[in-house]
Amino acid sequence: MTNWKTQSLVDGRWVGSLESDVLNPATGAVVGRVPNNGEAGARAAVDAAAGAFPPWSQTIAKQRGRVLRQWYDNIVAHREQLARLLTAEQGKPLAEARGEIDYAASFVEFYAEESRRIHGETIPSHRKDARILVWRQSIGVCAAITPWNFPAAMVTRKCAPALAAGCTVVLKPAMETPLTALALAQLFPHDLAPAGALNVITGDAAAIGKAWCDDPRVRLVSFTGSTEIGKLLIRQSAETVKKLSLELGGNAPFLVFDDADLDAAVDGAIFSKFRNMGQTCICANRFYVQADIYDRFAETLANRVRDMVVGDGTQEGVTQGPLISVDAVAKVQAHLDDAVAGGARIVCGGKPHDLGGTYFEPTVLADVEPTMRVCREETFGPVAPLICFDHEADAIALANASRSGLAAYFYTRDISRAIRCAEQLEAGMVGVNSPYLSCEAAPFGGVKESGLGREGGRDGIAEFLETKYVLLGGLEAP
Ligand code: SIN
Repeated sequence: MTNWKTQSLVDGRWVGSLESDVLNPATGAVVGRVPNNGEAGARAAVDAAAGAFPPWSQTIAKQRGRVLRQWYDNIVAHREQLARLLTAEQGKPLAEARGEIDYAASFVEFYAEESRRIHGETIPSHRKDARILVWRQSIGVCAAITPWNFPAAMVTRKCAPALAAGCTVVLKPAMETPLTALALAQLFPHDLAPAGALNVITGDAAAIGKAWCDDPRVRLVSFTGSTEIGKLLIRQSAETVKKLSLELGGNAPFLVFDDADLDAAVDGAIFSKFRNMGQTCICANRFYVQADIYDRFAETLANRVRDMVVGDGTQEGVTQGPLISVDAVAKVQAHLDDAVAGGARIVCGGKPHDLGGTYFEPTVLADVEPTMRVCREETFGPVAPLICFDHEADAIALANASRSGLAAYFYTRDISRAIRCAEQLEAGMVGVNSPYLSCEAAPFGGVKESGLGREGGRDGIAEFLETKYVLLGGLEAP
């Protein structure tokens, strides 16, 4: 199946005229066209999902698991085509795109298994003639709104647990990268599920988001994206008192103590900072390095960064693709200008790449101050700002001086410090001597303004379930 459909999927049918171009950020070429839906399209998708909810939620859990397992098999069988499509619309190097397809598939596999493990409980009763039962039931129609930086994994991280829990889904992928989401939906085994179990529409984010928030039939909105839009969705959902699952912006601190394995810390920094060209919510955004090892860390990191190969992600050997847009390049430049004006020093990189357009040189920046924009805001680009610290308590205070709290990382060989810092860091996820937080089995999510709820693991399916307390009375007393 290489002829990917690009219309919207509503009630099991591919519909809508193709009006909006999808561009390849590496070349500017048009790679596809998708419909431009608004309020009416959003309502039609909910009509379909509401119609499919009774049969899908009543399908036995084992059968729902089989449907998801078939979806997983279909994704795996199309790994290479999906990865190429993902790179064409998003820009990440092909090796990373293949990794993302594997990551996306892992959520479908995990929740195929998990659908059968939605358990209730029996609680000792307050009356002899009654029993207390607790059931977990599908919440209803769920809206999933996914971002452009992980066009595959964020779709399955939301849709797989929702479907496993017996919910039906309306999905709106980002307009920069809708093609991978539509391809994943095409691979869903529609013949095994009611039409309308999974619907995908593309178009005007503001109009679709508002229509779904206003619609009382939508019982949950799951969103990954900026904190600003997350707050808007909270406000818009107040009227219908919806459940929200929000994975919002981060500003991850990365601490390197002077007892750390320096090579491991540099490896971790390279992965955490430059994955997806720094366009990842859990990317290290600011590096705090203890004074004794500051210069050595800066130089070792810069040497690795100088070796990076920037270019079109489909080309062999490229490790850094383009940024998503020229606006993204402008934001990175503005953060650098602010830092340099304040006295920061460019160790390597520091300007748009000679390739032009959406390409930016991977950059290491030293002598950075916590007041600079690169520390206070999420840069979402390939810039590693290094700040020097003397004492552990200072580093923790600097790390926590943010309204975000998604991920945090630190490197140390001292086990007492490891426990202490992991406890004190205000983040939903902490990587101790490792940057590899992402996986299907663990609860992914943030504290403070980084979001509500968790995705992945057992917590990820709980988001899509309501707890019902049933008091079974009138029983004959023994
Ligand atoms: C994100 O950027 O929000 C997702 C990153 C991940 O799942 O690893």
